[in-house]
Amino acid sequence: MIGITLRDVSFQYTKNNFALKNLTLDIPAGAFLGVIGSNGSGKSTFSYLLNGIIPNLINGALTGEVLIDDVPTSNKKTAFFAKQIGMVFQDPDFSLFNLTVKEEIEFGIKNLKLDNMEERTQKALQIVDLQKFENRDPQTLSLGEKQKVCLASVLAMNTKYIVLDEPSAMLDYKGSFELYQILAELHKQGRTIISIEHDTDFLWQFATDILLLDNGSKAAYGSKQHIFNNTALLKNLGIKIPNMHL
Ligand SMILES: Nc1ncnc2c1ncn2[C@@H]1O[C@H](COP(=O)(O)OP(=O)(O)OP(=O)(O)O)[C@@H](O)[C@H]1O
Ligand SMILES: [Mg+2]
Repeated sequence: MIGITLRDVSFQYTKNNFALKNLTLDIPAGAFLGVIGSNGSGKSTFSYLLNGIIPNLINGALTGEVLIDDVPTSNKKTAFFAKQIGMVFQDPDFSLFNLTVKEEIEFGIKNLKLDNMEERTQKALQIVDLQKFENRDPQTLSLGEKQKVCLASVLAMNTKYIVLDEPSAMLDYKGSFELYQILAELHKQGRTIISIEHDTDFLWQFATDILLLDNGSKAAYGSKQHIFNNTALLKNLGIKIPNMHL
């Protein structure tokens, strides 16, 4: 299948402690998937499955199978998946280690041996409105600005899949709304977007589908209309019911 497939995937960081449990689902290419669930429900762990960070870089016990466009993640190194899946981590410090903002963005482009580096870098900086910071040390930026640098790095790589782990948590409302507008535009151009997001209003406005995780298990998965109209389930799992008049 063109897209991402999980077949009965379970993952334990430590013995007898399931961060993810028996996940089976297909995310077709072209979807805009919102992933929701309470703290510790396995959302970040789920995102690590999608580009091979699990099992290639994180220790633990993985069972089942994850396929990206029919390629099992356990068969290839993470560099293979980095070309197809851009990842904005929950903690921006995870990704920032270059001396300037510009070098930070160039790093991914060089790594993937992509052409038009200057053009890609400038366009990405422009999208997140950080051109004025291109020579700053990323470590001296505010959290939201750091998050935007990570986003720009991913945008510059122009990957088929974009995964974001709580991008709005560090951005102000205007920044978050603009980010979702950028994602909506990329989605319209055919990219697959997967966004872990606590703010269900953004997902109601921009996502197509929702995955609801509870304690590492799939509590619900389907169209946003289907999931968000199940208000009893959302209430039960402590998820904010979005304003569906937006
Ligand atoms: N490196 C680790 N070692 C052991 N347990 C871990 C590790 N990372 C995460 N966990 C556990 O796995 C479970 C899922 O964590 P995860 O970070 O995926 O949750 P989350 O849904 O992203 O939470 P949040 O909303 O707080 O970001 C939690 O119970 C967490 O304590
Ligand atoms: Mg998380």
